Amino acid sequence: MDVMLRDEIYDQAVKWVLEAGRIIREKMHDPLDIEIKSNANDLVTKLDKETEQFFVRKIKEKYSDHFILGEEGYGDELSSLDGTIWIIDPIDGTMNFVHQKRNFAISVGIYHDGVGEIGIIYDVMANIVYHAKKGDGAYKDDVRLPKLMKKTTINEAIIGMNHFWLCENSLVDERHMQHFVKQIRGTRTYGSAALEFAYTAEGIIDGYISMRLSPWDVAAGIVLVNEVGGRTTDIDGNELHLLKKSAILTSNSDYHQHILENLQKGRK
Ligand code: IPD
Ligand code: CA
Ligand code: CA
Repeated sequence: MDVMLRDEIYDQAVKWVLEAGRIIREKMHDPLDIEIKSNANDLVTKLDKETEQFFVRKIKEKYSDHFILGEEGYGDELSSLDGTIWIIDPIDGTMNFVHQKRNFAISVGIYHDGVGEIGIIYDVMANIVYHAKKGDGAYKDDVRLPKLMKKTTINEAIIGMNHFWLCENSLVDERHMQHFVKQIRGTRTYGSAALEFAYTAEGIIDGYISMRLSPWDVAAGIVLVNEVGGRTTDIDGNELHLLKKSAILTSNSDYHQHILENLQKGRK
C-alpha cells in the first residue's frame, strides 16, 4: 500500500474512532435497547449498531472503493481479502459495556490485499488509543511501545483467557488446561479480545488465548502485536484466515511455540 495514502487513511481512521468514542460516551446512559444474539450471553445494543453505521457512512463517503467487514453486518459481504478492507468491531466487550460501562473498546483493523496495515484499539472510557502501522511500531497514545521483552520460563507468564478453556466443551482437554494454568504465574480475563491483544502488545500480559474469535475481534490486535515482535496464530499454529472464526493464540514470540506445543498435547 502506498505509504502516503496509508498515512492519510490512518489519520482519518484515528479521528473517526475518537469521534465514535465520544458519541458512545455521550449516549451510553440513554436506553440501550439490549438484544440477545446467538445466545443469552451474546448481547448487542443500539450503540453497537449505531457505531458501526457511523463508520460505514464515513468510509463509504470518503473511500468509496474500500470494503468493510463489520460485526453488526452493515458492511459488505466479502468472499476475498482483495483490496482495502476495514475490519470493524464497533464495541468489543459488549457485556462489559452493558454491565460495567467500562472495559470495552472500538477495534479497527485496515488490511490491504490481506496484509494488516493499520490497527487501532480505543479503550473508550479510559480514553487510551493503542495504534500501529505496519513497519512503524505500535503506540499507546503518544508513547511508542517497546519490543516485547525476551522471556525464558513459562512459570512467569500471565495469560489472558476465559473459563471456557477449563470446561467440558474446551478444544483442549480440561484437565490438561488445568495443568497448563498451574504452570504459569496467573491468568486474567478482561472480557474484550481487542483489549487483551492491546495488553499483550503492551507487555502487561504475555499472551491471550481464546476459543472462538471472529475477524473483527482480532484484526487490529494482530497489527499491534506484530509491531512489538509478538505472534498470532490459531491454536494449531496456522496463520489466521481473516474471513473465518478461529481459536487463537497471540503472545510474546518467545512463549508462542511453547504454548502451542502445550495446547497440542491436550488437543481434543
Ligand atoms: C467478545 C469479546 C469477548 C470474547 C468474545 C467476543 P463482543 O466480543 O471480545 O472478550 O471472549 O469471544 O465475541 O461480542 O463483545 O464484540
Ligand atoms: Ca468482539
Ligand atoms: Ca462487538
